[in-house]
Amino acid sequence: MKTFVCTVCGHIEFDAAPANCPICGVPQDKFQEKSDAIKKPADASNLTEGDKKHIPVILVEKKCGLIPDGCIDAHVKVGAITHVMQEEHYIAFIDFYVDKKFVTRSYFRPAAVNPAAVVHLKVKSGTLTAIENCNVHGYWMSEAKI
Ligand SMILES: [Fe+2]
Repeated sequence: MKTFVCTVCGHIEFDAAPANCPICGVPQDKFQEKSDAIKKPADASNLTEGDKKHIPVILVEKKCGLIPDGCIDAHVKVGAITHVMQEEHYIAFIDFYVDKKFVTRSYFRPAAVNPAAVVHLKVKSGTLTAIENCNVHGYWMSEAKI
């Protein structure tokens, strides 16, 4: 699957560049196809410490404590070893997708928050994708069944 990166805000879209960036609104021609934009561990069966600090960890909970009537919570944290949140090195955002279609972004300021977020899903099935952006180490992705 092709990946396209917004050269203005860093948002990633799958398959094709959108008419306008859903985050910053710039037109399609500001997107660049970048097949290697999202980092992958060199050896998926033997993760390094760096891999473990960046690959998002997804926890899908079928029951929501806030919204009744079947809301599904998808919690994401970065990563299995919690990533640092310092002014010079931090997780800038997590973008969430359902079935590879963008749904929302969570931003992080390193002084105030940990690198974790939750989305309250209306959809009842599909695949959740989380792409996090580390200001030093780039994009990392995980997926989970909803
Ligand atoms: Fe990092």
